[in-house]
Amino acid sequence: MGFQHSQYTRYPKSEIASIMKRIEEFNYLQDIDAILDKILDEARHLSNADAGSIFIVEDDHLRFGYVHNDTLFKKDEANEEIYVDFSVPIDDQSIVGYVALTGNTLVIDDAYNLPSGSPFMLNSEYDLKAGYKTRSILAVPLYTFHGRMVGVMQLINAKDENGQVIQFLKKIQDLIPLLANNAAVAIDRGIMNREMILRMVKMAELRDPTETGAHVQRVGAYSAEIYQRWATRHGIDKQEKNRKKDLIRLAAMLHDVGKVGIPDNILKKSDKLTDREFDTIKWHTVYGGRLFMNQTSSLDKMSMQIALNHHEKWNGKGYPGKIEDIMKADVKLGPPKRKEEIPLSARIVSLADVYDALISRRSYKDPWSDKHVLEVIEAEAGNHFDPEIVKIFFQILPVIKAIRLKYKES
Ligand code: C2E
Ligand code: SIN
Ligand code: SIN
Ligand code: FE
Ligand code: FE
Repeated sequence: MGFQHSQYTRYPKSEIASIMKRIEEFNYLQDIDAILDKILDEARHLSNADAGSIFIVEDDHLRFGYVHNDTLFKKDEANEEIYVDFSVPIDDQSIVGYVALTGNTLVIDDAYNLPSGSPFMLNSEYDLKAGYKTRSILAVPLYTFHGRMVGVMQLINAKDENGQVIQFLKKIQDLIPLLANNAAVAIDRGIMNREMILRMVKMAELRDPTETGAHVQRVGAYSAEIYQRWATRHGIDKQEKNRKKDLIRLAAMLHDVGKVGIPDNILKKSDKLTDREFDTIKWHTVYGGRLFMNQTSSLDKMSMQIALNHHEKWNGKGYPGKIEDIMKADVKLGPPKRKEEIPLSARIVSLADVYDALISRRSYKDPWSDKHVLEVIEAEAGNHFDPEIVKIFFQILPVIKAIRLKYKES
């Protein structure tokens, strides 16, 4: 593949091999956000850049995808910055726009002193707002091996060993394309995975119009951020943390796909359900679990745990309870599951899902006020919800709110 190109022969084999080995990790990630995060990790490791962002090509514009910035925020903690939503035209007015338009890499030594005749300008709005000083930039197009551009990566402020900002060295300019091709392929796959899952969700949405793409993307994102904070608190190593965060985002999006098995007259009822109708609804957990029963991948496994257990409650008053074999035709709801008998992923999604259901309109209820929702969640710590998850939820509330803004109902 690309790395055997003669361009790289002047670099030691061992160095190329070690870069390739790190890039391999792209293949273990499924979701677009986890992939973008990992690409920025590796590109910044290679270039010692303080910051970076990736934009994704969408029709005639670039949509902001992900950002790292060591000076402004801790990458391993939840932050609001990654959930901003904006796009930039593909034209010669901005740096990333220019790269997308021309397909050329841009190397800039001083962003505030561009070569005369450059059509583009630095958008200094971000610097001003954030109190940051962009100096050196390396902006590269992300092409697949077939030559299709999927996005643009912008690396900012390369640093020397002493942390002083320097320009991007020639060597880095040469090595980055090695990563860029693989990054483009991984991004393609990540976008496709998200789209496949949203298609599956659409099937459930036909039955239950409240299970929208926006709702499930919010629930997925809340869950990923809550998990990350939980894993940091529990000293989970970085690789496992990143892989699980990746899985929980997609698996959480599928929490209610079992609703495809519930009749319309119940799901779409504009009124309170009778006890009998609610008993029917409870089966959406078992139906959902069955969809992933093969458990051929870690994603199946987590999707199964979440679909089956997202209505269990910490105090043992949830459903469906312990069931020996969910595939058996005559299964009955089981004796209660409580506390850590409920998988962590499901304890997280349970809070994420209820929070989102309460702030949203449902066929049977109006949206509640934020204040009331937060009171209910706090009161349910140790009852409905794992108290630690509630605590984490309140710690990352600004991020939760940023996610709500990004994935609004259309
Ligand atoms: P959903 O609408 O996605 O709600 C998910 C969970 O959020 C609910 O799980 C419940 O724990 C919480 N929740 C949502 N709305 C309210 C509310 O007004 N008050 C309280 N205290 N909690 C709320 P739950 O109860 O197991 O329900 C599962 C699903 O069953 C719901 O998913 C919805 O599709 C359906 N459902 C539940 N109650 C009713 C109802 O009264 N009418 C109709 N039409 N559907 C209902
Ligand atoms: C129920 O327990 O019947 C449903 C609770 C709710 O969604 O209001
Ligand atoms: C409720 O507690 O059932 C809802 C009240 C509200 O809308 O705040
Ligand atoms: Fe559900
Ligand atoms: Fe839901």
